[in-house]
Amino acid sequence: MNLLFYGIKTLVQVRSENKLLKGKEMKHLPCIDNAWLYIKDGKIEDYGDMSSCPKLPTVQKINAENRVILPTWVDSHTHLVYAGNRESEFVDRINGLSYAEIAERGGGIVNSAKKLQNTSEEELFEQSEKRLVEIIKMGTGAVEIKSGYGLTTEAEMKMLRVAKKLEEKYHLPIKKTFLGAHALPPKFKNKKSDYVQHIIQKMLPQVVENELADYIDVFCEKGYFDVEDTIQLIKAGKKYGLKSKIHVNQFYSIGGIQAAVEHNALSVDHLEVMKNEDIECLKNSSTIPVALPSCSLFLSLDYTPARNILDADLPLALATDYNPGSTPNGNMNLIVSLACIKMNMTPEEAINAATINAAYAMEVEEQVGSITKGKLANIMLTEEIPSYSFLPYSFGNNHIEEVYIKGKPQINP
Ligand code: NIG
Ligand code: FE
Repeated sequence: MNLLFYGIKTLVQVRSENKLLKGKEMKHLPCIDNAWLYIKDGKIEDYGDMSSCPKLPTVQKINAENRVILPTWVDSHTHLVYAGNRESEFVDRINGLSYAEIAERGGGIVNSAKKLQNTSEEELFEQSEKRLVEIIKMGTGAVEIKSGYGLTTEAEMKMLRVAKKLEEKYHLPIKKTFLGAHALPPKFKNKKSDYVQHIIQKMLPQVVENELADYIDVFCEKGYFDVEDTIQLIKAGKKYGLKSKIHVNQFYSIGGIQAAVEHNALSVDHLEVMKNEDIECLKNSSTIPVALPSCSLFLSLDYTPARNILDADLPLALATDYNPGSTPNGNMNLIVSLACIKMNMTPEEAINAATINAAYAMEVEEQVGSITKGKLANIMLTEEIPSYSFLPYSFGNNHIEEVYIKGKPQINP
């Protein structure tokens, strides 16, 4: 379908060239006021200000007066393929148990793994599909999905096959990440190095052989997998051509960032607990820091120190971490709000972090992340709002009227 949006109050994130934004560069959000945007064959064909609006008599025209158009959000870190929920652990936490205590009692990731192992692939697809449809309607137009709630070869592959089927059905960019090293399965109790070897020798080769992963991930954290395990797993992934995206510094700073940077990880994600040396280490590296502020909200953790990261002239991306344990929510609008409210980012910085930089954090920057000629027409049209800053300001609300994936409307098809 070809579409011409006209009279757009503000066309946001218009870039003729791709660039991962760092430090002060993130303050600038290029826009065109009173704009038009032409979508042809599912891609962004052209745009400009209304003085140059083309006639295009045969094309469907959409009046976007008083409304803003942005590229869709890019969510570079989720675990949205999972089975069941963990609201009883949520109540346990309200009643005083910590996330770590719940995990020690067999709750947490291992609890989700048990549920997932007992869920059929069809049922897992249905549950996950609902979440994907929900986030698309909230403006997400590209998403990374991790395994890690299987913890057996078969269950991990089941998760990744579901992610692959979602991509085939919904036609938005989806990247799949193998996270066998998410928690120690009970079968390997007190035998962590055996499990790491099992991942490297048994699970990973099968995942790769079936072309089920783009990246490898490790939960590098006290009580989960240490820096040595992480390095071994990153290297094992590299042998098969998989780059790494690593969970680090959620509860403790234990050297995971240093290991990830040294081994050229694509991204380091979480970063609630950051020492100066962690920030120093990210300088002059190609590893992208990714903050997950709704995890901080849900678990009452510190927020990633965005200002320190940006003051160090580093890039920053934002993602949801959508998962049943630490973030049962995939709303990128809330992420952008939390970045402004809790991490002291400006709306411009937060929108850059949730679009173009996030696209780099999952290597889809050629397809999405900005209004650029030739990119996919994955865009969102807001309701009537006074300015783009109204989006994060009006936290907890969603002012998106329509989301287009490859030019096709998703809310009112
Ligand atoms: O990214 N931190 C590790 N993994 C997930 C949460 C796991 C869970 O509690 O289910 C996260 O927060
Ligand atoms: Fe995560």
